Amino acid sequence: MATERRDDGRTADRTRDAKTAHTTDGGDEAHLERSKAVWNRWSDWYALSERDLEPIREAAMDRLELESGDRVLDVGCGPGVNLERLRDDVGPNGEVVAVDYSPEMVAKARQRVADHGWENVAVRRADATQMAFDDPFDAALATLSFSLMPDVRRASESVSDALASDGRFVVFDVRCVQRGPARLANPLLRRFLRWYANWHPDENVLDSLEAVFERCEVVERYAAGAGYTAVCEKRAEA
Ligand SMILES: C[S@@+](CC[C@H](N)C(=O)[O-])C[C@H]1O[C@@H](n2cnc3c(N)ncnc32)[C@H](O)[C@@H]1O
Repeated sequence: MATERRDDGRTADRTRDAKTAHTTDGGDEAHLERSKAVWNRWSDWYALSERDLEPIREAAMDRLELESGDRVLDVGCGPGVNLERLRDDVGPNGEVVAVDYSPEMVAKARQRVADHGWENVAVRRADATQMAFDDPFDAALATLSFSLMPDVRRASESVSDALASDGRFVVFDVRCVQRGPARLANPLLRRFLRWYANWHPDENVLDSLEAVFERCEVVERYAAGAGYTAVCEKRAEA
């Protein structure tokens, strides 16, 4: 169970499938294509986000508790901001696989890999709700990407399927302000994030993570709870 509840005041305004909670009106495809356009556009302007949010990403990666030789998945990797740290943590015998849907972001991440000559880091273009891999991962990470997915429940299931039994998934993301007068800013925040990031208005990341993973705990909160890091653990297979 997730250890805290949200109060973001959102309402769903489209038909939702009861099992997977994804929209059934073709909105998922439209959302995904808009994500591609938005993140292609921002791929040239990412340095500020990379620098300013580095301490939070680093703290999230600490939570992965990676060991030398591990395989780790980075979901929605953008221009590859997490790759160096992940590669350092798994060492030369480990493996990092990064996934992003934006071709421009994938190109930037691949360039970073080539510039550093990292042979055990691969970047794939894929929609996180449709990923499939041959070998299981010890851990997975999503920083500032899960709340943009067209169907967070399906993306959560994809990550869970990709993980080994007992695998760990760490998510750093944003949501509406949870407490206090700053909640008055939520309508503006929601509007801004929809424009800037193609934030998904109807998805609740923590609810989906809680539904799919054995354990899901919010371990860090930032900016009146609008930013958070959650650690999830996959159900051990019987
Ligand atoms: C805000 S950037 C985050 C990049 C990086 N993880 C970071 O911490 O800065 C969000 C990324 O998620 C990617 N993304 C959005 N929807 C996706 C999807 N359905 N599948 C894979 N990647 C997706 C975008 O293309 C974009 O590069």
